[in-house]
Amino acid sequence: MSIAFRPLHPAFAAEVDGIDCGRPLSGEEIAAVEAAMDKYAVLVFRDQAITDEQQLAFTQHFGALENYKTGGHIRKRTDSRLAPGMADFSNLDRNGRIISAEDRVWFFKLGDRLWHSDSSFRPVPAKYSLLSGRILPSWGANTDFADMRAAYDALDARTAAEVEDLVCLHSLIYSREAIGFTDLTEEERVAFKPVRQRLVRTHPVTGRKSLFLSSHAGAIEGWTIPEARVFLRDLTEHATRREFVYSHEWRPNDLVIWDNRTTMHRARRFDRNEVRDVRRTTLAGDVATIQQEAAD
Ligand SMILES: [Fe+2]
Repeated sequence: MSIAFRPLHPAFAAEVDGIDCGRPLSGEEIAAVEAAMDKYAVLVFRDQAITDEQQLAFTQHFGALENYKTGGHIRKRTDSRLAPGMADFSNLDRNGRIISAEDRVWFFKLGDRLWHSDSSFRPVPAKYSLLSGRILPSWGANTDFADMRAAYDALDARTAAEVEDLVCLHSLIYSREAIGFTDLTEEERVAFKPVRQRLVRTHPVTGRKSLFLSSHAGAIEGWTIPEARVFLRDLTEHATRREFVYSHEWRPNDLVIWDNRTTMHRARRFDRNEVRDVRRTTLAGDVATIQQEAAD
């Protein structure tokens, strides 16, 4: 069967036909998916009833898994339901029970309801994320995606010039503080030390520029915090205008891939008494958006 891409949005996001994500891909298939990622930035594969092992294998067709020891978790590895390499974005604890509404793990997860780019709080932020919908609630729980290339293109000339060389500081501390979750341990505060990211990125293949926004961004170098926060809020409002957004309504066994370098996304509300079991694999980025300072 030949591969076909059906746009889901006039400017980005497409549904893919003709790929079975549960088996090894040919070089041509990998190249076709990569080219489509460069064009659409979000791809939806339907009816992919895959195991974790298959998801890990499929993911690694497109690069190396993000691998980190610290910096992004409040749950210890031993608390995880899933094998290494699989990130648990469900509302379940290690025993398969729905996480309590009072649990700080749940508070932490709620931060994903804000627009963000995965791992923008890491020195080298993520390339693709792949999210597999295993069990979905009966209502809500869409994932919204916003096209940061289109958002950049739509900036007025003055703003485009202003953002060109700006450097933001990103941290999980900022995105969790934004929902009122500030109860972090000293160890977490050290692990979540802000990292520097350019506000304007250039895609390594297409050369297209995009805004690198995220709820993790909480400061702009050389600016006061209030000035930075209102400017970042303005830019986020601009970048998530209706015409730049594709809202993905999940069906069981959807596998959705997005390019974190050129898009933002957010999780939407659902009934927390229902199970949502979605599992993510993440590909490491190639380079820092700027030359990072040596770790001290
Ligand atoms: Fe995310």
